[in-house]
Order: sequence, then structure tokens, then C-alpha cells
Amino acid sequence: MTPPAPSGPVVLLGCGRLGSAIVEGWLKTGAVAPSDLIILTPSEKPAAEAARARGARINPPWSELGAAGVLVLAVKPAKWRAAFAPLAGTLGAQTRLVSVMAGVPAADIARAGARPVARVMPTTAVAQGRGVAALWSADPEARETARALFSPMADVVDLEAEAQIDAATAVAGSAPAFIYAFVQALADAGRAEGLSDEAARRLARGALRSAGAGVETDETLEALTARIASPGGTTRAGLDAMAAGGDLDRAAASAVAAAVQRARSL
Ligand SMILES: NC(=O)c1ccc[n+]([C@@H]2O[C@H](COP(=O)([O-])OP(=O)(O)OC[C@H]3O[C@@H](n4cnc5c(N)ncnc54)[C@H](OP(=O)(O)O)[C@@H]3O)[C@@H](O)[C@H]2O)c1
Repeated sequence: MTPPAPSGPVVLLGCGRLGSAIVEGWLKTGAVAPSDLIILTPSEKPAAEAARARGARINPPWSELGAAGVLVLAVKPAKWRAAFAPLAGTLGAQTRLVSVMAGVPAADIARAGARPVARVMPTTAVAQGRGVAALWSADPEARETARALFSPMADVVDLEAEAQIDAATAVAGSAPAFIYAFVQALADAGRAEGLSDEAARRLARGALRSAGAGVETDETLEALTARIASPGGTTRAGLDAMAAGGDLDRAAASAVAAAVQRARSL
């Protein structure tokens, strides 16, 4: 069951690529009512303007932040201290903190905000209400606050340790791009087998859409695969070729390891 949303306004600090997707998801799913939403953004953003048109407050006087139920940090890791420091003193004792920033340890934010924090790593598909989000916090209340904000628009996956966030980011946040790259390679392979550019592109994209429709069901990946790959058939031949020599496993492992390493060096 979805936990209750925090009482008091929800303040979003930063409305860039991820912040905009979060605003769109909140409004699409009703997770946050526009009248409860405050967005802090140095420049005008289409998602913030669309929220303003529905009643959200954009850059109100800071005195209005004191009643906030939660503040979500969605600025770049390099900018968070400068963006958050001037606000920290305006928050009420009841305001909970949630960070969607990669690479900024919870302890650093908790120290600056003088309260616990939950870390969430969502994908931008929260905008469509179909994201996935890894969640970690040592504090049960912060964890439930974050769950209330994200579970209406993402499959929220609880992590046992903060150190797992980098791997979760690679496997969920970065992986759509890894999958696009694979689909691109499939289109290239189709062209090499004689398909036209347009046919290869549309067929590969359609295959991705079809695979996506499969995972929207509750079936396991194994069951979905078994449904397409009959013994001795063409799909089974392709799967066996991909598995031979371990090339696919190696590609996935090196992509995830490189993303984890990069996150740790940020
Ligand atoms: N993009 C993703 O898919 C994704 C996924 C998981 C986590 N994240 C994390 O989400 C955070 C944001 O990433 P992003 O991709 O959305 O970056 P982004 O597009 O650069 O957005 C960051 C936003 O922060 C705003 N900002 C800068 N200083 C500010 C301040 N003092 N007050 C309020 N807003 C301020 C910027 O405003 P201006 O545009 O006006 O400069 C910008 O729009 C990062 O920490 C990243 O690690 C992103």
C-alpha cells in the first residue's frame, strides 16, 4: 500500500532533467497536489511553468519554506552545497530531506541539514508514472517520506546499504541507455543482413517496444524468453550464439562496473 504523503508543502530544489521528470510524474499521478508544490529554480523551465499553471508556487519568498513537509534535492552534485546552505536555516523542524543526487553521501546532506535524509535514485520514466527508483535511508521516517513521494510513479526498490546505490544506479538509471545501445547494434546487424536503414530502425525500435510490453506483465524474464524461444527455433539459435563465449555477460558486466566506478569518482 502507498504510504501517506508528508503533510506540508513539497519543495523541489532544482528543476532540470530529473527535477522536471519528477514534477511531471507527481502531477500526472496526483502524488503531490499542485497547491502543495513549491519549485525552486534559477531559470524558467517548461515543467515548472506547467505546474505553475495548475497552482504550484515557483520561487516564492523563503518564509514559505518553513512549513515544508519535505525538501527534495535535485541539483547537480557539484552545486548542492551552494544551493542548499542558504535554505537549510529556513526549514522547520518537521521538514524531511530527500536527495535524488548521485554521488553525494547521506551523511554530508544530513550534517548540512541537521536532520536525517533518504536517498532515492529514480529513472526519468517517473514522468510517465512508470519509473523505477532505488531507495535507501538509515532513518525509517525519511525512508517512508521518500516512498510516499516516489511509489505512485515508480517501482521503489529498497536497498540494504547506501553503498549499493551506485550499482542500483547503473542497473536501473543507466541501463535504459545500455539497452538502447544494444538495440542500435541489432539494427546495424539487421542492415548487414540486407534490411534497409528505415526497416532496420523501425523493426529494432518495435522489438524494444514489444520487449517493454512483456515486462509490463508480471511474468519473469525467463518465462517471457521461453514464450519466444522454442527449442530448435531461430530465437534459440540467436540466444545460444549470444551466450557462446560469454560476450553478452562481459558487455553487461563491464558497462555496470564502469558506471559504478564513475559514480564513485564523482
Ligand atoms: N538525469 C537523470 O536521469 C538522473 C537520474 C538519477 C539521479 N540524477 C541526479 O539528479 C540531479 C540532477 O540531475 P539532472 O540530470 O536533472 O541535472 P540538470 O538537468 O543539470 O538539473 C539540475 C538543475 O539544478 C538547477 N540549479 C542549479 N543551481 C540551483 C539552485 N541554487 N537552486 C535551485 N536549482 C538550481 C539548475 O538550474 P539551471 O538550469 O537554471 O542552471 C538545473 O536545472 C543530479 O544530482 C543527478 O546526479 C539524475
